Amino acid sequence: MVPGRVIIPTATMKGVILAAGKGTRLYPVTKAVPKPLLPIANRLTLEYAFDRLKECGIHDVCLVVGENEPQMRDALGDGGAHGISLSYVRQVEPKGLAHAVGFAKDFVAGDDFVLYLGDAIYSEGFEAHVARFREAGCANLNLVKPVEDPRRFGVANVDGERIVKLVEKPQEPESNLAMAGMYVFGPQIWDVLPGLQPSGRGEYEITDAIQTLVSNGETVLAGVYTGDWFDTGTLDSFLDTTRYLIDGGTLVGSGTEVVAELGENVVVGDGARVDRAVRIEDSVILPGARVSVSGTVRHCLLGGDVTVEGDLVGAIRYGDLE
Ligand code: TTP
Repeated sequence: MVPGRVIIPTATMKGVILAAGKGTRLYPVTKAVPKPLLPIANRLTLEYAFDRLKECGIHDVCLVVGENEPQMRDALGDGGAHGISLSYVRQVEPKGLAHAVGFAKDFVAGDDFVLYLGDAIYSEGFEAHVARFREAGCANLNLVKPVEDPRRFGVANVDGERIVKLVEKPQEPESNLAMAGMYVFGPQIWDVLPGLQPSGRGEYEITDAIQTLVSNGETVLAGVYTGDWFDTGTLDSFLDTTRYLIDGGTLVGSGTEVVAELGENVVVGDGARVDRAVRIEDSVILPGARVSVSGTVRHCLLGGDVTVEGDLVGAIRYGDLE
């Protein structure tokens, strides 16, 4: 033992990743490939999540899956290939984040855990925030990020680093701190989930669970995140995230055949073939796709067999799926 150094025993920290959504905003691509398995800059979206959790020393991870369970298990197995131990639980219907997390209760088994949204990508790690949670001995710490227009987010009103109130999509925000999709919880969360009611949009909201912790007098902290936070859930945000990860350039996988001229922000997945497009820009061609477009492809996410006469702009396509 080093003299003068105090060793604080740290409780086990686990990871829970929510990946049971339907991904309707990326239909029809997400009918073929679940959103958490979509390659982004030619790595599975969830691989970025695994990296961030591992940086925090978390190796025991539970994936909350839905109808996509068979594909998720096929693709990720026991997690060994990614340096983690992966468990799966099934949320039958995607009824909200607070509903989804409830399925992980047995897995968490009274430990502390990081809750991570399966379609989130962060530019920097958040080890410091996990350390702050531990040091503060609080019930919950939430990543928040100052944003220009908080009205479309869950917003945290704070007093110092303490969250005193959470407001979902406020018309007149009292703070510019948006909830940024990463949460650290202690076991207190399990006491509040059973009492939650569905919100106006019919979902069990994680912000309601956190607000209940605050109302119960628990210590709930905000951790201001200084990095960039992306969610991959829409065509625009998927392509923005890609642009960030590939620095706006091009990334062409192995075994591809591409005759088109490639402009800015283009990813071509392994084994994809593009046989006659004039030019491709700001687009992702998924692995194994067969793309035959006579004009320009711009701002698209394409997979499967796609044949089009003329230009293809702002489209999400996967073969014949609708
Ligand atoms: P969302 O993006 O809100 O939902 P979604 O993924 O189904 O997409 P869409 O709105 O386009 O249909 O969900 C954020 C993350 O949380 C995502 O990774 C899926 C996950 N999730 C669950 O696991 N269970 C749920 O009940 C919900 C609503 C989301």
